Amino acid sequence: MARPRASPPPKAASPKPRPPGALPLPLPAALLDRPLDYLLAEHHRHRSYLAGLRYAATLAEIPRDQAARLHLFLAAELPLHWADEEQDLFPILRRYALPEDGLAEVLARLSQDHAMSEALVRTIDRGLSTVLRERPDPIPLERRLCGLMLTYAATEARHLAVENAVVLAIAGVRLRKAELHGLSAAMKARREAQHVADA
Ligand SMILES: [Fe+2]
Ligand SMILES: [Fe+2]
Repeated sequence: MARPRASPPPKAASPKPRPPGALPLPLPAALLDRPLDYLLAEHHRHRSYLAGLRYAATLAEIPRDQAARLHLFLAAELPLHWADEEQDLFPILRRYALPEDGLAEVLARLSQDHAMSEALVRTIDRGLSTVLRERPDPIPLERRLCGLMLTYAATEARHLAVENAVVLAIAGVRLRKAELHGLSAAMKARREAQHVADA
């Protein structure tokens, strides 16, 4: 006699993504006096933006004010951070890190990440700028744009982990007062120049 078939266990509902906190505003300029702390705090801030991108991509929609803040971050604030690293931090470290730090390859890989992220971020930002012209709030997001946002969030999270654990850790040991002062001055000058250009 055929035995009654057991009904399959109910499928666990996939957990609803938790909304990230508010997207943090730019850091206070006074923190530029301690450039390594500034860069670390900036990375922390970037993680909030990655969480914002991930959440919006998962829901396939984004509140208008968040889209506007993300657009500012991707279009203006992130390029400033890349310039801090590419034009100042990395060159100083190439000069002052010791061969046994093994930093040359790490920095080369991170520079490749920057170059690849630049194109990806430009595409995402173009997508956000386009949807910002639409009326609804929240704004629906196309599947392709969501995919790009998720890809960027995943690769950038790994990038930040390496910068924090390797680059900033070694910088904290190898860079002395004079180098840190030079780094701080260069980062301040970059923001000043942007301020003048935006005025
Ligand atoms: Fe960084
Ligand atoms: Fe970076």
